Amino acid sequence: MGKFYITTPIYYVNDKPHLGHAYTTLCADVLARWHRQQGDKVFFLTGTDEHGAKVEQAAQSSGLTPQEFVDKTSQTFKDAWAKLGLSYDYFIRTSQSEHEKVVQDLLKRIYDRGYIYAGEYRGLYCVGCEKFLQEGDLVNGVCQLHPNEKPVTQKEKNYFFKLSAFREKLLKAIEQNKYQIFPEERKNEVVGKLKQGLEDVSISRSQVTWGVPVPWDDTQTVYVWIDALINYYSATQFVSNAQGFWPTQVHLLGKDILWFHAVIWEALLMAADLSLPQIVAAHGFFTVDGQKMSKSLGNVIDPADLVNEFGLEATRYLILSQLSFTTDGDISLNRFRERYQSDLANGLGNTFSRVTNMAEKFCQGKVSRGEVELCIDKELDNFKFDAALGLIIRASRLIDRQIDEEKPWNLTKKSDNKKAAELIEGWIKQLRGIAKALEPFMPQTSNTIQQALSTDTITKVAPLFPRLNS
Ligand code: ME8
Ligand code: MG
Repeated sequence: MGKFYITTPIYYVNDKPHLGHAYTTLCADVLARWHRQQGDKVFFLTGTDEHGAKVEQAAQSSGLTPQEFVDKTSQTFKDAWAKLGLSYDYFIRTSQSEHEKVVQDLLKRIYDRGYIYAGEYRGLYCVGCEKFLQEGDLVNGVCQLHPNEKPVTQKEKNYFFKLSAFREKLLKAIEQNKYQIFPEERKNEVVGKLKQGLEDVSISRSQVTWGVPVPWDDTQTVYVWIDALINYYSATQFVSNAQGFWPTQVHLLGKDILWFHAVIWEALLMAADLSLPQIVAAHGFFTVDGQKMSKSLGNVIDPADLVNEFGLEATRYLILSQLSFTTDGDISLNRFRERYQSDLANGLGNTFSRVTNMAEKFCQGKVSRGEVELCIDKELDNFKFDAALGLIIRASRLIDRQIDEEKPWNLTKKSDNKKAAELIEGWIKQLRGIAKALEPFMPQTSNTIQQALSTDTITKVAPLFPRLNS
């Protein structure tokens, strides 16, 4: 038993919650539930990133004040997460005054320790990315991620963080596993980039008013990324049930924002003399039917639509089983439908119906206690959510195949009741183990199975996953 503090990125509120955000948050939910199941003390944090020029602009164009705008849009994330049954312990918002205060305290601390200085910054700025562009970000003079938005030249007084002072320390910390970057390939990328050199970074803005004022100079606000990263720490300072949870066990995120999480964040923590997180785990990016998910292509998947079609529990299953954490992947609704039928309707759900049906018929519902454990610890320890679900479905298929081979209904005909009862009891015990392994992924389904198999008289149950009409 221990403590387990897990975080997701805090998402930008100028976007609607989509399947990308849902994937990361769902992975975190599974790990949080898995640790709770083991008796760990868990704190699972998610939230929204609400400051910056982009939000200011979006608020203006919808005729709202920034605060009104973020109050409305952050709620859409909460609503989406409720629909997916996500069990976060706290939803943090960077516009909360409690968070802002911790940001100011932490920056002041880093400033007092001599790692922040005033300088002049001049560079190409992409409003879409909310950052000054580096050479590598540009293709044909425009930002790769926002080719339709012309980068603007900006020059201003900024405060800089002495990131360069931490290059050696970071390399050493990674090498000595003071914190872990997962998976290995991504770690190597970070290490490679660190070895090339590290420049100081600007951490304040003079023209962005929707932000946290720099505590010693209120003509500047804290750069939105610095403000955002600090959420992971600030929650442990002002949320009452998060006391004592620092440092983080797992920061989960997509590979797009790994550099911020695996380099800048740790350097800030070192500068403030705070403990480092244990694991920074970055998953791949997925496409939809082979194409980048984007508003202009109109292929952005709203998780709520999936829940409406497949139900909450099946949606969780489909999202996590179709993608592999460490690699880039592809999502297709057709594959979702196929897997729903094969893995859930004709798979797990059908096996469960068959077994309970036979327990009622051939054992009069009387089946002794006990379960056969299905261990998915190794998979979950390595973020292999798809592989863990693969083991679960394979175990249920195996039962199905055994039923077909053993044909217990023939055994009873020959009045060999005992053999049939033994077989059925064995399958029930396996199903109990399956249900337990399934709990972090599909908590309601797991609960339904466990309940049904824990009574003194097991009775036939209605299908867990009705077949889709084709
Ligand atoms: O970057 N495939 O927020 P964001 C997989 N506010 N995951 C995806 C995805 C895709 N196609 N698209 C998005 C920000 N994601 C900052 C974070 S944290 C201190 C500040 C997921 O709204 C993935 O987790 O752009 C990615 O890292 C995140 O959404 C980016 O969310
Ligand atoms: Mg983004």
